[in-house]
Amino acid sequence: MPESPSNGSVPPPAALLISASGLVMRYGPGESATGVLQGLDFSAQAGEFVVILGRSGSGKSTFLNLLGGMDQAQAGQIRIGDAELSTMDEEARTRFRRRAIGFVFQAFNLLPTLTAAENLALPLALNGCFDPQRVTEMLRQLGLADRGQRFPDQLSGGEQQRVAIGRALIHRPALVLADEPTGNLDADTSRQVLTLFHSLVRDSGTTLVMATHSAEPQQLADRVLYLDRGQLRERS
Ligand SMILES: Nc1ncnc2c1ncn2[C@@H]1O[C@H](COP(=O)(O)OP(=O)(O)OP(=O)(O)O)[C@@H](O)[C@H]1O
Ligand SMILES: [Mg+2]
Repeated sequence: MPESPSNGSVPPPAALLISASGLVMRYGPGESATGVLQGLDFSAQAGEFVVILGRSGSGKSTFLNLLGGMDQAQAGQIRIGDAELSTMDEEARTRFRRRAIGFVFQAFNLLPTLTAAENLALPLALNGCFDPQRVTEMLRQLGLADRGQRFPDQLSGGEQQRVAIGRALIHRPALVLADEPTGNLDADTSRQVLTLFHSLVRDSGTTLVMATHSAEPQQLADRVLYLDRGQLRERS
């Protein structure tokens, strides 16, 4: 019998959620094409928080867009849970994205004609599981219980980004992708929003992959990787 930890329970092995290998992405025609991703490999466990660093133009957004099925690589495979993204057609990738992935962008990207509550409800409606109670509960968790009926232009930047974070999580996706989520916020608001984001993601066991230049997410992350010359490396 293998030795058990002193409390008698053996922790379950961490489950691999994302496995990407040999990703190639080039822009431009023929010989003059620029190779942004050059055989990039990446993997992440369920529940892991991974930060991706890299200079501007190194390919962070390109990589997140591939993981989220927004774009398709010219070579390589991406597996998320049981799904093989590289072999799906665009319609299948869209359906998968709606169900299994949440996005948070730098520019909040809320729908301006919908209220905060309606923006939050959108992923539930798109997945055919609208549930007003879940929207109310999410508004409460976001500290926005009294802001549900406001439109995005009636909310501060920090409040808008909290709604965007709620919208990324409300349908309980396996994976959340965040591209510079605090890039448009001042330092204090950025810290508050990030703390909330981190605690919601941790409590829900969601995997988070975040591209950022900020220092705070790097301190909270389980792993920090550096994107350079088309490859991801462990930060030295
Ligand atoms: N649709 C496109 N067509 C042509 N080139 C593109 C396209 N999208 C991105 N690129 C190029 O690919 C490279 C990587 O861009 P990407 O947006 O992924 O960088 P990034 O690391 O996210 O940068 P930043 O930190 O500034 O957001 C850049 O040189 C960019 O100009
Ligand atoms: Mg970018």
